[in-house]
Amino acid sequence: MSYIDDPAPGHGARPARAWFSSDAPSLDLGGQWRFHLSPSAAAAPDGVEREDFDDSGWSLLPVPSHWQLHGHGSPAYTNVAYPFPIDPPFVPSENPTGDHRLVFDVPQEWAGLAALLRFDGIDSCGRVWLNGTELGVTRGSRLATEFDVSAVLRTGPNVLVVRVHQWSSGSYLEDQDMWWLSGIFRDVTLVARPAGGIDDYWLRADYDHTTGHGLLRVETAAPARLSVPELGIVDRAVDEPIEAGVVEPWSAESPRLYDGTLATDTERVPVRIGFRTVAITDGRITVNGLPIMFRGVNRHEFHPEHGRAVPYETARADVLLMKQHNINAVRTSHYPPHPAFLALCDELGLWVVDECDLETHGFSAVGWERNPTGDPQWRDACLDRMARTVERDKNRPSVIMWSLGNEAHTGKNLADMAEWVHRRDPTRPVHYEGDRACEYVDVHSRMYASHAEVEQIGRAGGMPFVQCEYAHAMGNGPGGLLEYRELFERYPTCHGGFVWEWIDHGIARRDARGREYFAYGGDFGEPIHDGSFVIDGLLFPDRTPSPGLLELAKVIEPVRISQCSEGLTIENHHDVIGLDHLTFTWVLEEEGEPRASGVLDAPEVAPGASVCMPLPQLPATSRESWLTVTAALAEDAPWAAAGHVVGWGQVPVSATASGVPGGKVAQSRTFAAPVFDPVDGTLRELGGYPVAGPRLDLWRAPTENDEPVEAKAWRAAGLHRLQHRVISVEHAADEVVVRSRVAPPAQAFGMFATYRWTVAPDAVHLHLDVEPEGEWPATLPRLGLRMALPAALDRVTWFGLGPGEAYADSRQAVRVGRFSSTVDEMQTPYVVPQENGNRANVRWATLTGADGRGLRIEGSPTFELTARRWTSEELAEARHAAELVPGPLVHLNLDIAQNGLGTESCGPGVLPRYQLHAHPATFQLTFR
Ligand code: GAL
Repeated sequence: MSYIDDPAPGHGARPARAWFSSDAPSLDLGGQWRFHLSPSAAAAPDGVEREDFDDSGWSLLPVPSHWQLHGHGSPAYTNVAYPFPIDPPFVPSENPTGDHRLVFDVPQEWAGLAALLRFDGIDSCGRVWLNGTELGVTRGSRLATEFDVSAVLRTGPNVLVVRVHQWSSGSYLEDQDMWWLSGIFRDVTLVARPAGGIDDYWLRADYDHTTGHGLLRVETAAPARLSVPELGIVDRAVDEPIEAGVVEPWSAESPRLYDGTLATDTERVPVRIGFRTVAITDGRITVNGLPIMFRGVNRHEFHPEHGRAVPYETARADVLLMKQHNINAVRTSHYPPHPAFLALCDELGLWVVDECDLETHGFSAVGWERNPTGDPQWRDACLDRMARTVERDKNRPSVIMWSLGNEAHTGKNLADMAEWVHRRDPTRPVHYEGDRACEYVDVHSRMYASHAEVEQIGRAGGMPFVQCEYAHAMGNGPGGLLEYRELFERYPTCHGGFVWEWIDHGIARRDARGREYFAYGGDFGEPIHDGSFVIDGLLFPDRTPSPGLLELAKVIEPVRISQCSEGLTIENHHDVIGLDHLTFTWVLEEEGEPRASGVLDAPEVAPGASVCMPLPQLPATSRESWLTVTAALAEDAPWAAAGHVVGWGQVPVSATASGVPGGKVAQSRTFAAPVFDPVDGTLRELGGYPVAGPRLDLWRAPTENDEPVEAKAWRAAGLHRLQHRVISVEHAADEVVVRSRVAPPAQAFGMFATYRWTVAPDAVHLHLDVEPEGEWPATLPRLGLRMALPAALDRVTWFGLGPGEAYADSRQAVRVGRFSSTVDEMQTPYVVPQENGNRANVRWATLTGADGRGLRIEGSPTFELTARRWTSEELAEARHAAELVPGPLVHLNLDIAQNGLGTESCGPGVLPRYQLHAHPATFQLTFR
């Protein structure tokens, strides 16, 4: 059997050890390497390992990188399916093979030093030679491999050769839902190992919450000494535990690190110590004695140009963005990330579930037969991966749980991995969702459990429960986050969860017309692929936050401000810290215009507690007014500047939206008489502008959460092709009444729509009555009116919820206010075009042109507003955002309601209370 197919782990490497740097010399071997891609291992050139091999005709390739993102071959995306036959452990002979060569210089100072060659990630299998000598074979793409090169390294020029195969036995263990991308995609480093140095260490810093004391326990191969000046620890031998006295504990909310040095006579290792103790007590996960709530996300390593070769600055941006959006936890789905990411989590504060590089999901297609996690021939590979995960990351205070992997069914090898972890590291619980019976894990984990199931699990109690994945953030959504939060908070054993997932994995490309777009499955001509299922993140591929992320940030905000009988309630939902790092300010707005503002003297609120306090003194207002209270960072934090908002709330302080639509119209102008079509009674001209409609509309461009179930029912019902039968048109002096019946072809059900137009000197009123007839078989995408205006009316101002889009089950992030935007800016650029941009609870909106003239639309009391330069049909048709071409009109939807969003792309659909069903309705609008 060739080394490529061998199910055993790689060979030739040194035992796994912790990731750290020291004062020993090291050389970063990243940079331009010579590269040659062959279609198979057999076709790869002979003799590449020889020092005198002539590679001058080869291409240059940056290392780290994936060769498919540099013009060699193409990326391919599958979720579950293996893109090759299930024939374990064998992989296809057509196995793209990339030869990499580098000549590098070793300085004179290295003479006589022992050295290691370290690869932080090679996807999927690399055979390595240095100066013509074979060092071994790597497997475990997202795990480090180190070779001892002391015997072959020399000062002066050295020749490093790595032959990388896209497929290997390891591919069977790496069936994660992501792009198949190959190569040396993480750092390559030459590390000197001084004799008597610190080859490996494990520094455990426990925190006793009953005494406030820290205890340091350090394991090293060679006798070493520890100094932590801040704790008065100077050059202490580590052969015994070290009492650290009273310390400040580490937590995600308060990531206190103590800098120290671990030293032998020949090597000094800077260490960053975070004191914390993880425990499971009475069915609850506690850290430092306090139960914690995961407000988490699943993070794949992804960059739209570099794939999983994520630059350090990008990893840092991820941590900052998470912190800035109130996220406190990461599951490193589905493999250990670059170790620098974890160091950032230590520094900036995130709870981490560190997951092993293991997934065999494709075996589900064959009933899990021959699944590697249950087959003895793969046992060593499974254990090897687990050990390399734990050994590499064991010193990270942020890592509070190990995860065996993802979607690998259940099997003896997984149980053995868990047993190994329990033995090696009893300080952290073990997680694995696939152990449904909870036979070898410490926490009960599920993915995509519905609200009802979470409720059941919470009620039953028992083990700590986490949703390792929930709220599938694909396209427009997720809906229903608030209701999950309520359940997580209701039941003590529920510890929250991790939204799937952090970022859309769209690959930046340009189409034939030079337009930029983000590619997904199928865009590279893959014969089998899973389309846009790889685009399911809270960030767009370029790391712009999506509305889903803003919604999540609001739902999980650690400070909640709302109305109470005496005025304002302030709740502290931090697990650990108080609120004294925040400044509370208020602003009073009358119909969205600021009237007064001030600083709120908020009392201290302990974690988990709340206070009710009186409203500040407010001036009287006559129109609809809201008090907005904001809690923002008082000072710069390492993850956000002073002024960054962590929580806010709004309280109505006078007439509510149900009053007469307020607001003086800025200027009353002569209003050109509306023109109605004499035959069908539709409006043709309004305020002197040519218009089309409004007419009843039920259709929306399905979201990716609509597609799997709802949209199928909608299309089957024909809601995308309604026909309008005019029953009667009555013209009176100041009134036009149009009766119609709206229904899809081939169906007996329908809706009567009566449009009653009343013309006043300065306005036109529309009173719409809707009356369903017959059995409507499905929910409705929307219920409202569609109309079109000239393209020039593209500036929009509204008083209602904003500034962003909002839907029935995703509207926590928006507030009542007055907002201005443009039609173009009101579009949310979902990678796959779909319904977006709805502005909710709009009291009034104006659409104006460059001259400031235009139309004002008033609700009675409110309506939902969408404005775009293309129709819903064009939106539904496009496959990528760049394909949407502005037409000559602005298309408006003025809705009574839309169906909620749900998360049915992978999870529960729209909760019943947010579903829109055909029902009799009245809708009133005034156009000025
Ligand atoms: C889960 C899986 C994830 C991802 C998600 C759907 O089953 O663990 O990797 O595929 O579904 O996007």
